[in-house]
This record gives sequence, C-alpha cells and structure tokens, in this order.
Amino acid sequence: MEKEIIALQLAHILGEEFTPEDLKQKLEQPKHSSHGDIAFPCFFLARHFRKNPQNIAEDVSAQLNHPIFADTEALHGYVNIFLDQSFMTDHILRRATHIDYGRHRFGNGERVVLDLSAPNIAKPFSMGHLRSTIIGNSLGLLAEYCGYKPVKINYIGDYGTQFGHLLAAYERWGDKDTLQENPLKMLSDIYVRFHEEAKQNPSLTEAGRDWFKRLEEGEEEAAALWSRFRELSLEEFDKIYKQLDITFDLTRGEAYYSDKMGETIAILEEKGLLEQSEGALVVRLDEYDLPPCLIVKSNGTTTYATRDLTAAIDRYRAYHFAESLYVVGNEQTLHFEQIRKVLEKAGFLWASSMKHISFGMMLQDGKKMSTRKGRTILLEDVLEEARERAGGNADIGTGAVIFHDLKHQRQNDVEFSLDDMLTFEGNTGPYLQYTYARAVSLTEKADFDFRTDLKDGSAWELVKQLHLFPDETKRAFIQKDPSVIARYLLKLSKHFNQYYAHTKILQTDQMNQRLTLVQAVITVLKKGLHLLGMKTVEKM
Ligand code: ARG
Repeated sequence: MEKEIIALQLAHILGEEFTPEDLKQKLEQPKHSSHGDIAFPCFFLARHFRKNPQNIAEDVSAQLNHPIFADTEALHGYVNIFLDQSFMTDHILRRATHIDYGRHRFGNGERVVLDLSAPNIAKPFSMGHLRSTIIGNSLGLLAEYCGYKPVKINYIGDYGTQFGHLLAAYERWGDKDTLQENPLKMLSDIYVRFHEEAKQNPSLTEAGRDWFKRLEEGEEEAAALWSRFRELSLEEFDKIYKQLDITFDLTRGEAYYSDKMGETIAILEEKGLLEQSEGALVVRLDEYDLPPCLIVKSNGTTTYATRDLTAAIDRYRAYHFAESLYVVGNEQTLHFEQIRKVLEKAGFLWASSMKHISFGMMLQDGKKMSTRKGRTILLEDVLEEARERAGGNADIGTGAVIFHDLKHQRQNDVEFSLDDMLTFEGNTGPYLQYTYARAVSLTEKADFDFRTDLKDGSAWELVKQLHLFPDETKRAFIQKDPSVIARYLLKLSKHFNQYYAHTKILQTDQMNQRLTLVQAVITVLKKGLHLLGMKTVEKM
C-alpha cells in the first residue's frame, strides 16, 4: 500500500517519463531504521535532470506529502521516508491477523502441474527424491496460495530396459519370502548383483533384453512380476509419504506411456524433425548448441526422453497448464532443456511454460549421499531417528527434516546433519516450532480483546516484518523457491523473540494490543510453516 502511494507521488513529481510501476521497483528498504522505512535512491535521475542526486532528493523530499508519512529527509542522494507508525501498525495488524493473510489471486484459477518425487521402483527412495518431494510439495502449496490450482503428479520410474535386467535377476536369484519382507532391499541387491555378474557373463545381458521384450509385448508372467514389484515398491514409498504427510493428485509412471509414444513419434516425423543417426532416430538441436535428443534407439526401443515428451503432451491436453514444473535434481538439466526445445520445434507454444525446477545434492561429509556404496541412509530411518530425537514428536521430527532442506536456496547443495536439524538454538525447524508454541502459550495466559491500535515504538520492526509476508509468498512462488519463506520465518521469529525479551507483554498497559500483535505472529508463523509442508505444534 505505502509503496503504491509513494510510487504514484514520485511519478507525479518526476513527470510523465517515469511510470509508477518502474518507480515502485526502485524503492529500497534501508539497512538501518535510522534511515527511515523506505528509501528512494535518486542516482539514476542525475543524467535526466542534469542535477546531482542529492539536489534531486531534496526537491523530491520537499514535495512528498501524505498522511501516512511521518517524515521525509534527503540524505546522500536518497529520499528517506519515515512512515506513520501508529497508522501503519493498525493497518498491518488488521490484515496480519486474518487467516488468509498473504494470499494472492494472480493465479486466476489456472493450473500449475508439478512433477515431483518420482522415485524408481525396485530401488530405494533416494535423498534426491526426498528433496524433490519436499520442494515440490511446498511449491504446490505456494501455487495454491497464489490462486492457482496445483496438480501434483508422481511420475514413478517404472519403465525401461533396466526392468528387463531386474526380471532376469529375479528369475535367477529372487525369492518370494524375502520379496515380501523387504522388497526394496532384495530387489536392489539382485539388481546390483546382476550388473556385477553381467560384466563377466554377457548371456545375462542377453537374458535381460529378452525379459524386457517379453514385458513390452505384454507377456503374462513378465507383466505379473512387473506389477508385483511395482505394487510392493509403491507400498514402501507410501510409508514415506505418510510420514511426510504428502499426497499426490495423480500417481502415473513412465509405463503409462509405453503404448502412447507412437503418436509422439508420428508428430515429430510429420513435422520433419526426425533424423536417422547410426540406426537411431534423433531430433537435432544444433541451433541451440545442444546434443541431439534420442527418440528411438537403434535396437528399436524408446527412451526416457520419448516418454517425457509424450507425458508433456498428455499433460497439456488434460490440464491446459499455465506452468508445468519439473522438480528434479540439477543433474537432469540437459534432459529438460532438450525436451523443451524438441516440443518448441514441434510447434507447441506451451513448451515455454515448462520449467525445470532444479535443485542441488544432499551431501554427507561433503560428498554426494548415494544409496549405494555404503553411504546408504534409509529415509525411513532418518525420519524415525528425527522423531526420537525430537522427544518422540513426529511433527517436530519430520518438520525438522523438511525445514533443514527448505531453508537452503534450492540450487545449493545441502549438507545432511541430524544434529544441525534438531537443535533449538540454530536456524532450525524446532526453533520455529518452539517460537510458535511460546507465542501460543502467551495468548492462552490472558483473555484479550482484538485491538489493533497498538502504540509501541519497540514493536515497529516486528510489525514491519509481518507486513512483508504477502510480498514473500509471491516472491517464493515467482522464484519457485520455498527458502524465501523459510528465511522469512526465521527473521520473523528473531524479531518476535527480541520483542518478547524486552517487553512485558502481559503488562496491563496495552495488553490487548500487544496480544493482538502476538496473535498476528502466530497466524503468520502457522501459515508460513504450513506453506513449507510443516505441521505446527501447540505445546512443546
Ligand atoms: N525417476 C526419475 C529419476 O529418479 C525422475 C523423473 C523426473 N521426472 C520426469 N518427468 N522426468 O531420475
């Protein structure tokens, strides 16, 4: 609100060439509150007005005038604006205590498709899949909060030549009982064994190819085994989703597209995009400096790319999405660039709405956490241990794991450490949960009336922090980065805890107003944590 007012006045003062929208973008928040609440730098105007910035700032400062400005000053080329604290506080507290504070409508009910989690059957759920699940889930919540309709799709890795290998391995070393007891462990063990022995024994690879052919032809035994593996794997994955309290609108894997790729290939053919290359069919992407996208291998089988192309076309038909987000680790950047360019070349205008939301790796002692090579950390164990360390509270334990992930800018790697996740002192989930519970217990200590006319200069920084929330929910979605919210909540909590340390909130003077402020903090913390996919705990 205040920024719009300032921008309109600036446009009026500076003249036609400057639009309020552009001027609003120039407004800054001063580092020190002694320099006001909002600053307008005048350096970029020097050329235009042929004056030095300080003189311009003085002119502007003299002409700015509105009841919500308590004061303005010109300093070092900036106009510093001091807002009327009581007016603003009243305005902000009214809004921030509302359950929908920070909600936006700019999504207009359009759909945002999210491709998230996407683990591979018969393999353990990796840390990369965990990151995708947590980031994707939060982005879905943010999309909804910005007025979109999110569609969360779990694109299970349930197809490809590796399943032929797996079936061949099962035929040799598989065992029904172990499969029932610990399916993922057994399947991944025999899979690893298959690849080790295949180095010495080419007939194994041959057998794998054979099994894949049987699977593709829909032969009964192969199909039955495959769907059994799939089911058992999904059951295992579901345990993790339950612990995280995450659901999907659609669980649809790669295999769903196994008989639908013909149409995609026909489209590419018809557009004249397919080229022969050493017996394979590819789409060349030389003009983008990208390697060709492999569509059909020389042995006639389709690829991961062909399935993604087919799925993308299918998703657009079903949802007419405004955006389609692929929450997948940054090692697949090239793949998604290729997919998008192929679709663009094929004339699909919506291809530009597809975005790869890439993220960094989970590290342990600075090295990639892998599900093989002994660096295995099973996710269920992680969540279980987090719960134990959080005094048996699953919401705090799981929340700690989620927050530890989301507080990092998504592109960065994350060092995995249960100790760091679970301390109450650092920038952690438990710290936020604790702040929240503390605020809740304050409001339970006294009956109070809702009063927004707080007059307390020492609350100003906290109030201003509350005021930022709507901008932050928007920015988090636009940047597709939940860490915007995570860092915001940490700041909000710091401001609240500082205020709490220096103010007797339950003192009779303005108790209603102060508790209304606390109520606003509670509302925003709760909403913010929910947008990250965390549950709040009322008592700790
Ligand atoms: N299952 C794949 C993997 O684990 C990830 C799939 C990502 N989504 C997609 N549409 N390609 O690497």
